[in-house]
Amino acid sequence: ANPVLNSATKGWQKVGTVAQLDKTGQLLVENSPIGAVLVVGTSKTAKDLIAVNPTCTHRGCTIDWKAEESKFVCPCHGAKFARDGKAQDGPAKKPLKTYQAKIEDSSVLVQA
Ligand code: FES
Repeated sequence: ANPVLNSATKGWQKVGTVAQLDKTGQLLVENSPIGAVLVVGTSKTAKDLIAVNPTCTHRGCTIDWKAEESKFVCPCHGAKFARDGKAQDGPAKKPLKTYQAKIEDSSVLVQA
């Protein structure tokens, strides 16, 4: 193992491209190297990117991002989660798993 390379790249995984993210302001990747990831935001709001594991902590449905409410909502039983992943309403009690996200060149990176 190369320690210099390891520390430089530690934990950051490419989950998509800026073009994909900018198209809809959301990037859902079911099978990234760190599992399912939903990134919300665009390259214009890069500092406020949100990245979560979109698996609802109630029974495992895939949650949706509601931009108007600035919340994640589960289509199955209506659980709501705040931008930081905290469970707010409905049957889910545990928070969504969150990740750090950033844009580098034309790639969207998420830190496991
Ligand atoms: Fe999400 Fe039940 S699985 S609210």
